[in-house]
Amino acid sequence: LPAHFTLPSGDKIPSVALGVWQAKSNEVGNAVTVALQAGYRHIDGAWIYRNEAEVGKAVQRSGLPREQVWLTSKLWNSFHAPEDVEPALDETLTKLDTEYLDLYLIHWPLARKDGQPYDKELTENPYPTWQKLEEMVAKGKIRNIGVSKLENLFTNPLKIRPAVNQVEINYWFPQPNLLKWAKEHGLLLQAYSPLGGTGKVKDTLTVPEINEIGDELGMTPAQVVTSWHIQRGTNVLPKSVTSSRIIENFQVRALPDELFSKLETAATTHKPYPRFNPSNKGWGLDFDIFE
Ligand code: A2P
Repeated sequence: LPAHFTLPSGDKIPSVALGVWQAKSNEVGNAVTVALQAGYRHIDGAWIYRNEAEVGKAVQRSGLPREQVWLTSKLWNSFHAPEDVEPALDETLTKLDTEYLDLYLIHWPLARKDGQPYDKELTENPYPTWQKLEEMVAKGKIRNIGVSKLENLFTNPLKIRPAVNQVEINYWFPQPNLLKWAKEHGLLLQAYSPLGGTGKVKDTLTVPEINEIGDELGMTPAQVVTSWHIQRGTNVLPKSVTSSRIIENFQVRALPDELFSKLETAATTHKPYPRFNPSNKGWGLDFDIFE
């Protein structure tokens, strides 16, 4: 399997990242340390995860040169107004104790300050936010920019097109059409909740096909799943704060074509799985933020 995917900038983004959403501030440092020792070179974080300072310290402690570790962060909903972008980015850079991010994403396709209704205009067309991000790339504070949903962004005269689109992708929600579209447009998909997300992981890891493939290849169910994601051409971001799982999830290898197809078919033909989040995510939206 490829160790990296290449973005339009030419930068190589490591195929497997440690996800740190819901990693508590007292456990995330250890998780990052274990991951870097196991060979991970990509940490998928965000301002809203409230653990960036701990992530930054663990990266520093590793002694690895900065350019060997890929750091991703995300611009929170409350900072989409152009004047709020650079201060939000600066706060993240300070917390991570770094001069630049390898990748900065618009976290959700939603401009909304806490306690206020959402800003419809900026949500419907986030081009002013995007232009500010383009400016941050020009300033050297960010290397690559992307989104976690595309919305209407592609209709604008973009100087820099999104390098990635980070969305939920897992056995229960494999998004084959979006994946096909992304490949046609040279856009890398990043799979969050790749094991199914909190609460559904057990269901994923007990899927008969996944276990049969694992038994045949001498791999654990989680390794079958992380490998399948990379083989599909998506960047995989498993979250764990458990040392043995962090190490386990990184041991990926190619599935023979026939077994890959068996898993792909199972994932894309099972009955729809109940959705985890309400479509408006409780944010008072009049659109489905996941579609
Ligand atoms: P923990 O962090 O306590 O180790 P996802 O990345 O799909 O959102 O899944 C994250 C969840 O899956 C977390 O609850 C994490 O638990 C758990 N998890 C991560 N890796 C494994 C694994 N290899 N086996 C079982 N559970 C795992």
